Amino acid sequence: MKITQDNKDALIKKAAKDIVDSRKTIALTGAGISVESGIPDFRSAGGLWSKYDPEEYAHISAFQSNPEKIWHMLKEMMELVLGAEPNPAHSALAELEQMGLLSSVITQNVDGLHQRAGSREVIEFHGSNQWLVCLECGYRQEAASLSFEVIPPRCPRCSSILKPDVVFFGEPIPWEVQTRSFEEAGTCALVLVVGTSAVVYPAAGIPPLAKQNGAKVVEINTEPTALTGFISDYLIQGSAGTILPKIVEEVRRHVS
Ligand code: APR
Repeated sequence: MKITQDNKDALIKKAAKDIVDSRKTIALTGAGISVESGIPDFRSAGGLWSKYDPEEYAHISAFQSNPEKIWHMLKEMMELVLGAEPNPAHSALAELEQMGLLSSVITQNVDGLHQRAGSREVIEFHGSNQWLVCLECGYRQEAASLSFEVIPPRCPRCSSILKPDVVFFGEPIPWEVQTRSFEEAGTCALVLVVGTSAVVYPAAGIPPLAKQNGAKVVEINTEPTALTGFISDYLIQGSAGTILPKIVEEVRRHVS
């Protein structure tokens, strides 16, 4: 189906009405929402996984067997993130929360941009690279304090190699994060799924769980995903940084 501006505008209006009418709305976000902040996503053409094989770089066993190698990729990612600013998509979700129209953002991202845009109820499903942790003694420090001169960074307490506080493939999602996220998905009436390919579980199980509990699922993505046509009620195709502010502009019209 050819996406015309008319039907995109109609879907933006429809999404705004769905948000206003919803008794509880949550958002599930992925790397796509931060692309307009200058952080590449993983699976689009030119994404991070086209440069680094995730099995070789993003699995906990790879980190444990060759932390020096993994830290070169991590350094590149962290310098990108530390230099990034929230974009209008992050701000639009923060504004919906301030209007009392968004209960929480469940994000797969580790860049902290939702919080910097003003969102308060943020569940970091894959952790956060704002912190470094020591797997041996539990020491934690803010990543911003890292000079990146010495890679890999070592724990000042026990000299073990520090790890960003993110969930690598092969690591479990913290139980309290899973519990809170699935509680939100099980009790919401609308999920805004923004900028995720929805292929990595258990995060990708959030929209189907919400759907199963009667929620509407609305996707905002530059392209169709594994959810489109199966779980999603509709996809608004385009960039989050353009579409979400337009939706919020329509919501303001409804509530003013
Ligand atoms: N606006 C909206 N969507 C976008 C934009 C944009 N500007 N740019 C890209 N996208 C979409 C892509 O079409 C794709 O569907 O964002 C999605 C990004 O998908 P992935 O790169 O797979 O990222 P994500 O879904 O967050 O990956 C999930 O996989 O590698 C792990 O832990 C990593 O959290 C990550 C998880």
